[in-house]
Amino acid sequence: MSIENNKSGKESKKIYDRATKVLTGGVSRNTIFRKPHPFYVSTANGSYITDVDGCKRLDFANNMASLIHGHSHPKIVEAVTEQLKKGSAFTMGSEIEVKYAELLNNRTRAFEKIRFMNSGTEAVMTMIKAARVYTGKHKIAKAEGTYHGTYDYAEISQTSNPANWGSIDKPNAVPVVEETPEGILNDMVIFPFNDIERTLELLNQNADEIACVLIDLVPHRVGLIPANKEYIEAIYKWTRENNAVLAFDEVVTYRVNYSGAQENYNVEPDLTALGKIIGGGFPIGALAGKSEIMKVLDPRENFLRHPHSGTFSANPISITAGYTAMRMFDKQAVLNLNNLTKIAIKQVEEVISLAGIPACVTGDGSMFRVHFNNTKPTTYRESYQEKEVKIIINKLLDYLFLKEDIIMINTCACMFSTTLNQQHVDKLSESLLNGFRIIKPELENLF
Ligand SMILES: Cc1ncc(COP(=O)(O)O)c(C=O)c1O
Repeated sequence: MSIENNKSGKESKKIYDRATKVLTGGVSRNTIFRKPHPFYVSTANGSYITDVDGCKRLDFANNMASLIHGHSHPKIVEAVTEQLKKGSAFTMGSEIEVKYAELLNNRTRAFEKIRFMNSGTEAVMTMIKAARVYTGKHKIAKAEGTYHGTYDYAEISQTSNPANWGSIDKPNAVPVVEETPEGILNDMVIFPFNDIERTLELLNQNADEIACVLIDLVPHRVGLIPANKEYIEAIYKWTRENNAVLAFDEVVTYRVNYSGAQENYNVEPDLTALGKIIGGGFPIGALAGKSEIMKVLDPRENFLRHPHSGTFSANPISITAGYTAMRMFDKQAVLNLNNLTKIAIKQVEEVISLAGIPACVTGDGSMFRVHFNNTKPTTYRESYQEKEVKIIINKLLDYLFLKEDIIMINTCACMFSTTLNQQHVDKLSESLLNGFRIIKPELENLF
């Protein structure tokens, strides 16, 4: 598809030409890369982003699920501006950090102590290290296909594919980056998500060595399918019996309920990694959990078992933004947002059926993902997109971006923000219907 016939992206192309001379690949973050060039933002407000060519788009990606109140929310801008005048980072504490810790710890029962850091990747890494220190063991168990950031251990098997994923009874530990040390692969136990029998069997085979079972309760890359209650309870029970830490990655899913996706389950995790929305639009991560385990980070201990610092950890800008955002994301706001998302899912299902294409929708809370399958996938292997399907999805996403002025996440997912309303949802479903009709012939060829 040519981009010439709509919003040409001429200014963006000029910037990208300069970018390729100074940034590798022209980007600092592969997520924003698109062919033939990324688009550059001029301003963003509420649910809209205007690019440097003056094209205004409706945003359903919200910086990969991190902007729960859309762009430049006035209350966040005001709070951060006030804080900026007082300084942005110190080699000293600031009271807002304590206030924010009080707010989050009161919000989720499993959070007895919390520590702020700079990204979700760092939160997951610190969680894994804390689990190792606490249990005296070193192996990490995680589900095939889940994305937990880029820490060496956490990223294993994130991009497994049919050529390398091996038997479902014992999925291979597949490196993402070349030359990942063999030792890291050997220290990973990869299990199929939501499959109680196989997961327990694999955990049992490594029981004496597993430090933690890392779980994303609604893993986006696995298909945005919620974990079954019995599955989580079985893993919880296993961790109690085998001196292992139950570690939830709620970097994305904390938005699902007032207390996170964990509110939907009858068991509590030992540790939870947080990020994204708790930064109110600024970089953040956090590790929260049981005091007894969090103690491994406590500098008052005679022997500091897990020294942890970060130059910008708990900087008052991210903390002020996050505190302001999460106060606004109260029980009613969560409910309203989830209700709007339910309506959106229903409307998308209706246009799928109107277009007569093989597709379905999965999701939870304020998130959903469109799959080009007749039936909802239940595992990573079922939701895995072959190259031919990816090409069709990219065509759809390009059409939405270039012709309908709609931004979605590249898996064909939407992560809602509180600035969206019914008109926005109507626009999304109308645009998707147009897009589905365009890709229909190609989809029919595949099935
Ligand atoms: C579930 C999950 N965990 C961890 C991360 C890493 O967070 P960050 O990008 O802030 O490092 C992400 C990022 O998308 C994520 O989706």
